[in-house]
This record gives sequence, structure tokens and C-alpha cells, in this order.
Amino acid sequence: MASNQASSTEDPSPLAAPSAGQQSLVGKVVWITGAGSGIGEACALAFGQAGAKVILTGRRAQALDTVAQRIHAQGGHAMVLAGDMTDREAVMAIAAAIDSSYKALHILINNAGLNVLERNWSVLTADRANDVIEANLSSAFYGVIAALPIMRRQGDGLLIHTSSWAGRFVSKVSGPAYAAAKHGVVAMSYAINQEEFRHGIRSTVICPAEVATPILDKRPVPVSAEDRAKMLQSEDLARSVLHVASAPKHVCINEIVISPTWNRSYL
Ligand SMILES: NC(=O)c1ccc[n+]([C@@H]2O[C@H](COP(=O)([O-])OP(=O)(O)OC[C@H]3O[C@@H](n4cnc5c(N)ncnc54)[C@H](OP(=O)(O)O)[C@@H]3O)[C@@H](O)[C@H]2O)c1
Repeated sequence: MASNQASSTEDPSPLAAPSAGQQSLVGKVVWITGAGSGIGEACALAFGQAGAKVILTGRRAQALDTVAQRIHAQGGHAMVLAGDMTDREAVMAIAAAIDSSYKALHILINNAGLNVLERNWSVLTADRANDVIEANLSSAFYGVIAALPIMRRQGDGLLIHTSSWAGRFVSKVSGPAYAAAKHGVVAMSYAINQEEFRHGIRSTVICPAEVATPILDKRPVPVSAEDRAKMLQSEDLARSVLHVASAPKHVCINEIVISPTWNRSYL
């Protein structure tokens, strides 16, 4: 784990005040994985603006530092704890560092993930399948297992996982390993709610179809600028995540399935 304590203001003034019936996010401790780009970056900026204390994790410390600097420029609070979510010891160490610094963890946004070029059985190797399953499913499990003891102690916690449209509908575009891993993330989230509701803990899985983020640059078939413009944008996902996090404690939003109106899987 690479630790990079970032400076912060003590009392960030939230630019986005909660509406009636929503819980405030001011002072909430929010751990976001995959926070250096795309959906995670947009969530980090949105939570920072809402007055949360945001902890940023990903493998590239430099990308996380840039996001942290933008949060500070908004008057928010961010701390960078870089690490590889497939490294279970690193994940446990990051959770321990959060607990030690803040004595709390209210929200985990389990968002780190990737896909590989090998998206057909004809080219898929055991190593590439493992890469996808570890980065999308094992990493999510490690985050949950690291966060739950802190949340149980608090009698309060929210886990939000970025699955995929491919986690609901098996897609040839995403390939077998990604579809299987993201289906696993959906099952994991429901299984958390089955047991952990007793501790005041709730879990939400978000299943987005195509979002215009850097992950698209690694597609075997290039995606045009015109197609990207019609897709969901990272900020659309950040709004959904903020909506889930702002729901009062007695409300558990189990799942959100979200797509662009122009859904290319229907073509
Ligand atoms: N964009 C879409 O169309 C789409 C649709 C459905 C679901 N999703 C899911 O949404 C999530 C966010 O992806 P995105 O679209 O925002 O793409 P992205 O910009 O590529 O973001 C993925 C982030 O995950 C981080 N990451 C990957 N492997 C990691 C690891 N082992 N440990 C820690 N961090 C890791 C990456 O940072 P580092 O490389 O620095 O580690 C990166 O910042 C992913 O789970 C993805 O599968 C995306």
C-alpha cells in the first residue's frame, strides 16, 4: 500500500445540499476504489463536493493525486491510499489505515475493475480469465471483507458495487470472464443484504451499460467519438451513486440497472 496523506480543509462547505428526506454526506468517510479515472473519479469529485471525507484507491498513485488535488480545489477532503485491490493484504492494510485515521468507514464504493482483449473462448487463456475474475470479483470481495468489521462495529454501513449490464445480461461484447465476474458481483451484493441487515448494513449493486470512460480505450473493437457521446457519462453514474448514498438509513436500494437511451446492445 502506498500512502499519500493529502491536505484538506476542516469544514468543507457542501455545494450540493441534500434534499428533504435525504441524508447528508457531510463528514461521511467514503472509500472509493478505481478512483483515478472514469466512474470512480466522478464519484470522488461528487462526494468531495457533498462534504464527505473521500479515500481514493487504485494502482496509479499519480492519477489518484490529481483527483485529490481537484477535490481540495473544490474545498473538499481527500486522502490517497494507493494499492492493488487484487492484493488481499494490501486491501486489508488500506482498510486498517482508514480505520486508524478516521475511526470510521461509512461507505465503500467498490468500483475497481478492468477487462482484457481476449473476449472469446477461442482466445481466452486461464491467465487472462484469472486477471478479469481477480480484478472484478475477488477485489470486490476483499473490499467487502475488509470493510465489514468496521461497519458492524458502527452498526451502520453502505456498500456500493459497480457491476455491469454484463452482470445482468450475458454479453458477447464483454466476453465470458467479465460477464461471469460481474454476475458474481451482483450475487455478492444480494448475499451481503441477506446477512448484514442485522447490523444496519446495506448493499447496492449498480449495473451500467456502456459508459464513456477510459476502459473503452482497451476494447478489441475501437469505439468512435460519436458512439461515446451517446453513451452514459461518468457523471451520470456519480449522480446515481450519490442518490443511493443519500437515501436514509432505513432504505436499501438493492440494485440499479442503468443504460443510455441509445443502447447499442439493442442494435
Ligand atoms: N465504462 C463502462 O462501459 C462500464 C460499464 C459497466 C461497468 N463498468 C465498470 O465500472 C468500473 C469503473 O470502470 P470505468 O468505466 O470507470 O473505467 P476506468 O476509467 O478504466 O476505471 C477503472 C479503474 O479501476 C482501477 N483498477 C483496475 N484494476 C485495479 C486493481 N487491481 N486495483 C485497484 N484499482 C484497479 C483503475 O486504476 P489503476 O489502473 O490505476 O489501478 C481505474 O481507475 C469497473 O468495475 C468497470 O468494470 C464500466
